[in-house]
Amino acid sequence: MQPKKTCSILICLCITSVLFLTAGIVLIGMWEVLYDYIVKGNLILKPDSPAFKIWIKNPLPLTLKLFVYNWTNPQEIYKKGEKSNITWNANNTVTFKHLKKWYFDPERSNGSLYDAVTSINPVALSAAYATRTWSYMGRKTFSITFDAMISSIYITKSVGNVLFDGYDDPLMNIANTFPFLAGNNFPPMDKFGWFYGRNGSEDYEGSFNMDTGVWGQLGELYEWKYANHTPYYRDKCGGLSKVSAGEFFPTNLRNDTLIKFFSADLCRYVELEFEKEETVHGITGYKYSANDRFLDNGTKIPENKCFCDGDCMPSGALNVSACRYGSPAFVSLPHFYKADPYYRDIVEGVAPDAEKHDFFMTFEPGRT
Ligand SMILES: *[C@@H]1O[C@H](CO)[C@@H](O)[C@H](O)[C@H]1NC(C)=O
Ligand SMILES: *[C@@H]1O[C@H](CO)[C@@H](O)[C@H](O)[C@H]1NC(C)=O
Ligand SMILES: *[C@@H]1O[C@H](CO)[C@@H](O)[C@H](O)[C@H]1NC(C)=O
Ligand SMILES: *[C@@H]1O[C@H](CO)[C@@H](O)[C@H](O)[C@H]1NC(C)=O
Ligand SMILES: *[C@@H]1O[C@H](CO)[C@@H](O)[C@H](O)[C@H]1NC(C)=O
Ligand SMILES: *[C@@H]1O[C@H](CO)[C@@H](O)[C@H](O)[C@H]1NC(C)=O
Ligand SMILES: *[C@@H]1O[C@H](CO)[C@@H](O)[C@H](O)[C@H]1NC(C)=O
Ligand SMILES: *[C@@H]1O[C@H](CO)[C@@H](O)[C@H](O)[C@H]1NC(C)=O
Repeated sequence: MQPKKTCSILICLCITSVLFLTAGIVLIGMWEVLYDYIVKGNLILKPDSPAFKIWIKNPLPLTLKLFVYNWTNPQEIYKKGEKSNITWNANNTVTFKHLKKWYFDPERSNGSLYDAVTSINPVALSAAYATRTWSYMGRKTFSITFDAMISSIYITKSVGNVLFDGYDDPLMNIANTFPFLAGNNFPPMDKFGWFYGRNGSEDYEGSFNMDTGVWGQLGELYEWKYANHTPYYRDKCGGLSKVSAGEFFPTNLRNDTLIKFFSADLCRYVELEFEKEETVHGITGYKYSANDRFLDNGTKIPENKCFCDGDCMPSGALNVSACRYGSPAFVSLPHFYKADPYYRDIVEGVAPDAEKHDFFMTFEPGRT
């Protein structure tokens, strides 16, 4: 009995170890598949999934640094986002809106929302821009008729008014009274402020429709404002192909992956390019930063040509006029960092600094 038992134990052990060995070998061969399976399982968006808790409320408030140029007075504001009006669709997508609120951060600000700053008056500038194609007589008539009301091209207002609370400008009233002037150059608003009407609004950014990750790529944006192509840029530039809605990004990143996400502030997608490997809190990450694919005007990156409609600008400033009711608005990295020297030469007091002014995201690449 004894030897037999030992034997069966031995056999048992053998079988077990063979099993473990096989499992081990299979696992070695399969770990990538398994890894992907487990990761994928966690990366599905449904009301009870781990990803949902992260997505519904952005876990960390995002800091938005606003430098109101007086010319130099930085104000920090932090933004808290929340998803609203969530609809789960049968086609494995979810439709939602963003409810965003901004809070002034006194600790990290050099000034308050009540500080008076002198800045250009975007309203007057928009009017000048709207009438730029008019005949000389037309412009003359306009300027004589409205001279008394035409505000200076400079304004002195509180930071709060310039940013969130808005201020009255006589020209806005004219625009509302004389729609011919308005065209699409004036926002349909009673006041002007760069973020006027956005604090606490869930409708400002419009509706998003994105993949929940069951079959496709979690977080891939399919529709914005109920369309798969924005009206703001022509051809591929207005497209939403393989674009993240901004919160979930593809896993298993490589150094030739492009990080492509949608920005409702710019009404377009943004592409970040691999820059280098770096360590963040002891974890190896891939740093992707804004570069030619984002900033070039089509000279180096031909795909970018469709972003500059009409007159083109030197690289480094994006024409977002179409996204701002036609008013002449341009977006650049702070201090025209990575932009054509043209801009630095025409504006005094800007000092681009790689440490402070770059735009980048660092991701843990996943299995490598
Ligand atoms: C909520 O979403 C549904 C479907 O996406 C839409 O039909 C409805 O108009 C939205 N409601 C609000 C208040 O936006
Ligand atoms: C998925 O279904 C919703 C609701 O019917 C629809 O609004 C959306 O356009 C669909 N998305 C895609 C990518 O077909
Ligand atoms: C935004 O709105 C909230 C109330 O919803 C308010 O507490 C906050 O001060 C506002 N932020 C700014 C920058 O005006
Ligand atoms: C803070 O503001 C003061 C003037 O109010 C200015 O002298 C100083 O340079 C500012 N500091 C920073 C970091 O911007
Ligand atoms: C902005 O500049 C004006 C002078 O041009 C000055 O009176 C005012 O105090 C400055 N504001 C801030 C917040 O530094
Ligand atoms: C990208 O990775 C490959 C190996 O996977 C390496 O040969 C190449 O040098 C890397 N490129 C950059 C820009 O780091
Ligand atoms: C900016 O874009 C608008 C609208 O697309 C266009 O009309 C205008 O000519 C462009 N301006 C410049 C300077 O490129
Ligand atoms: C595009 O940008 C390049 C580099 O900044 C510049 O040399 C070129 O003049 C720009 N093109 C136009 C049409 O402005």
